[in-house]
Amino acid sequence: MKILLAGGAGYIGSHTAVELIRAGHDVVIADNYDNSCPEVINRIEKITGIRPVEYEVDVKNKSGVKKIFDENLIDVVIHFAGLKAVGESVQLPLKYYRNNIDTTLTLLEVMEESGCNNIVFSSSATVYGEDAPAPYREEFGRGKCSNPYGWTKNMMEQILEDAAKANPELSVVLLRYFNPIGADATGLIGEDPQGVPNNLMPYVSQVAVGRREKLTIFGDDYPTDDGTCRRDYLHVTDLAIGHVKAVEYADREKGTNIFNLGTGNPYSVLEIVNAFQEANDIKIKYEFGPRREGDLPEFWANADKAKEILGWEAKRGIVDMCRDTWNWQKNNPNGYR
Ligand code: WQD
Repeated sequence: MKILLAGGAGYIGSHTAVELIRAGHDVVIADNYDNSCPEVINRIEKITGIRPVEYEVDVKNKSGVKKIFDENLIDVVIHFAGLKAVGESVQLPLKYYRNNIDTTLTLLEVMEESGCNNIVFSSSATVYGEDAPAPYREEFGRGKCSNPYGWTKNMMEQILEDAAKANPELSVVLLRYFNPIGADATGLIGEDPQGVPNNLMPYVSQVAVGRREKLTIFGDDYPTDDGTCRRDYLHVTDLAIGHVKAVEYADREKGTNIFNLGTGNPYSVLEIVNAFQEANDIKIKYEFGPRREGDLPEFWANADKAKEILGWEAKRGIVDMCRDTWNWQKNNPNGYR
């Protein structure tokens, strides 16, 4: 199949491109490189031996997106074209609503005009909101989010679901990711945040490589065994393979279908730091600081539905996640730059 990856040069998009190519699909990447780097395309080619078709375009721009559909017979779209920094979304809510909602509307409009009926959406466990009990199950529905980033994911899911209700030909697959970490085993692609990392694993690996002095662990007084928050970390390659399964599913089913992509096994912040130290034989300097506003003590996935229906389950463990993160970071101390 020919798959359009909107926002495909980012962390999850690039790993998905590699797994789609490995599975024999044709990949078209559309990205404005707002939070990614054109070098990613060279790396995907280096890993797979195949260069994806590439469009430098803002996915909000309808004529730019239309051109892609005019020049390629797209079977399925995967929508990764979103801003994703929680803290920034609180400071700049309009930027987040404008970008994330507009990219979704543009893709759906152009798909309708072009007769493409399949879309897989990069959603997040954040849509379960603040009050859902862990483990999260798909049938819980969407809850109350604590920040504009979360609300954009919530709204984008709603828009996609409404579009599928109105068009019985449309297939929408909503993938709710838990906490992706790690990198392709080649170490040629990985997570490359701009500025100070917001997320735990890139911060840890930048401390390891000497770009940051020490990690601050946000809170040591949560109601968990060691007092630090617990999350469901999954290897980005497992997540990418989940997209391959989702694309194939979208092509044969109609309506809206929702899947959690997680391992079902949470780890605490301290367990992650210790696992990284042990897997890579490196010391990570850290201190405890106050809680970060909006963090939940713990949540993880019930991942049974993806296993039963998509035949997907996470195969890579915490040692792989820590080793592959470090392999990427030590070979690319300044990311793609
Ligand atoms: C994990 C744990 C922190 C940094 C967020 C979004 C979610 C998704 C992924 C993405 C928490 C702790 C972190 C640090 C720390 N969105 N931590 N020191 O918060 O579970 O999820 O990112 O695109 O929607 O909400 O992930 O990696 O930020 O944090 O102690 O410097 O690590 O408090 O307990 P989170 P995270």
